[in-house]
Amino acid sequence: MHDLPALLKKIDNYGVANPFPEAPRALYEPCSYILNLGGKRLRPALLLMATELFTDSIDRALPAAWAVELFHNFSLMHDDIMDAAPLRRGQPTVHTRWNTTTGILSGDVMLIHAYRHLASFQDAAVVAELVKVFNRVAIEVCEGQQYDINFETRNDVTLPEYIRMIELKTAVLLGGAMEMGAICAGASTADAEHLYHFGRLAGIAFQIQDDLLDTYGDPAKFGKQVGGDILQNKKTFLVLKALEIMPAENRSALETWLQTGPEAPGKVEAVRSIFDQNRIPELANAEKKQFQTEAFNHLEQVGVPVTRKAALRELITTLLDRDR
Ligand code: IPE
Ligand code: IPE
Ligand code: MG
Ligand code: MG
Ligand code: MG
Repeated sequence: MHDLPALLKKIDNYGVANPFPEAPRALYEPCSYILNLGGKRLRPALLLMATELFTDSIDRALPAAWAVELFHNFSLMHDDIMDAAPLRRGQPTVHTRWNTTTGILSGDVMLIHAYRHLASFQDAAVVAELVKVFNRVAIEVCEGQQYDINFETRNDVTLPEYIRMIELKTAVLLGGAMEMGAICAGASTADAEHLYHFGRLAGIAFQIQDDLLDTYGDPAKFGKQVGGDILQNKKTFLVLKALEIMPAENRSALETWLQTGPEAPGKVEAVRSIFDQNRIPELANAEKKQFQTEAFNHLEQVGVPVTRKAALRELITTLLDRDR
């Protein structure tokens, strides 16, 4: 079996062997730029690890793994426009380094290249199965992104609505990557479904950790603008939990901040201190743990020896405590 560095090397070698076309340079340079900024390569790694649960020959899954990473980077390029984000992976976002038109079109073409890689499998039945899962989760990601934007201007968002939103915008892609890895290995439908739910539930915990890092991350490590969610009035787990547990008479300061724009002086510090006073980080960590436990219950039910699952358990455990 391959360790994580070996899997990451395979993924990046596949990317190097399959570069974007040279021209037009203004279209493809931003695609290479965002991919070369690194990133954890989590989704392709999960896909290959799912394949490797069932078979030692994982190279056949590389086009699907790369397709998922291209889709993810497309979604980030557009997400950074929607979120007015200045930084990605420690460097200027595409729309700030170039412009919004570039961010839109380079993102679009990356998405279409993702389909090209998916279609490169020899076996047409495998292509059909992969595209079916990919399409399902890609549509859901767009739906989740729309809810995320809708929630910015709503003040009555509930925690269950939030969980559903992050399930769509983030978690289903992790689940879908695992399901696609199972398909590449010819696994049973039951095993593919357990892997989907494993990835989905771990993905919900993954997004709660992303919310935590957005407010509490170390700017030197995080690679994104710390406090960006607060500036944009994102309805994160932190905000919604604070509104849920605070007595009505204490909520008004937070509610007032949520009516201000990103330019309001002192906003990030003030909102963060409301979270601190209400022990919101501890509550977010507890919530993460619950989803992690539920995720592991599905992994346990995948019909392969427990020793083959150890690397996946370890990866998810470290990811849910990550600092970037
Ligand atoms: C960022 O995803 C977007 C979310 C869904 C939270 P990652 O945290 O996987 O970003 P990279 O690819 O490692 O930069
Ligand atoms: C992103 O959620 C989900 C997608 C890109 C689909 P966020 O907006 O929280 O992701 P980051 O924090 O910018 O990476
Ligand atoms: Mg966003
Ligand atoms: Mg964002
Ligand atoms: Mg975020």
